Amino acid sequence: MKYRVISFANQKGGVGKTTACINLAGALCEKGLRILLVDMDYQGNLSMGLGVRLGRDEKGMGEVMLFPDVSLGEVVRESPIPGADIAPGNFALSKVDINIDRLPDRHGILSGKLLEAKDNYDFVFMDCPPAFNLLTVNALSAADGVIIPLQCYPYSLAGLNTLLSIIDDVRYAYNFDLDVVGIAPTFYDTNTKLSEMVIDELRYNYPRKVFNTIIKKSVKVAEGPLHQKPMTLYAPRHPVTQAYRELAAEFLRRVS
Ligand SMILES: Nc1ncnc2c1ncn2[C@@H]1O[C@H](COP(=O)(O)OP(=O)(O)OP(=O)(O)O)[C@@H](O)[C@H]1O
Ligand SMILES: [Mg+2]
Repeated sequence: MKYRVISFANQKGGVGKTTACINLAGALCEKGLRILLVDMDYQGNLSMGLGVRLGRDEKGMGEVMLFPDVSLGEVVRESPIPGADIAPGNFALSKVDINIDRLPDRHGILSGKLLEAKDNYDFVFMDCPPAFNLLTVNALSAADGVIIPLQCYPYSLAGLNTLLSIIDDVRYAYNFDLDVVGIAPTFYDTNTKLSEMVIDELRYNYPRKVFNTIIKKSVKVAEGPLHQKPMTLYAPRHPVTQAYRELAAEFLRRVS
């Protein structure tokens, strides 16, 4: 594989980063691949979305990022997806920005912690928070590639230019090999022409970067947090589940 460690990033909130992370992992694990999911968001949606809740005294990614003596292996546990483990996010992640901002290697902490774990998996998927903070910078510095979920709405395009420029900055400052694996259009609305117009503009501006597969807006996707598992497990025959399988196949072609 050309890329093994993948960040799901977009500074815009609610664009489908966590949902893409969970459902792509579901589709890839169906094919027998092994994935480590890393929740880098203090909201902990990736963990909640898979029914993983940490108790008050349990360590999560917050402690991994804050304390040199807490290893990633200490917090990794099984997820409900056969073949996927998860390093859960927790509230302590919200303290990372303030507490490590004077450390000389503050952007490279995650990269160091991943070294011991990543060889046990085919892919490591890191779910970023909706912000350009040290957590996102750590996830981008540790990654071989980025997947950018993007809502098919007009303002998304303006945000995309900003994100691509930040990815360039991280590439030059910390991680020369960082590549954009693909832009994944989500929330495609078949009831209006608007989504189609956004896709056309996206494909015109970034012809090689946009995935062919488009994820439609669907209540079935939004039900995910209720089921606490990927669509491959709660709606295996739904058309959007099939779309996530196609996205997974496209992803594999791009990273092989
Ligand atoms: N294709 C879709 N159709 C309908 N609802 C969706 C779709 N994709 C995601 N959702 C829902 O939209 C909400 C936002 O999705 P998600 O949490 O994946 O976005 P996010 O980018 O991770 O958000 P945040 O920036 O807060 O981390 C969730 O409630 C999710 O279930
Ligand atoms: Mg999220």
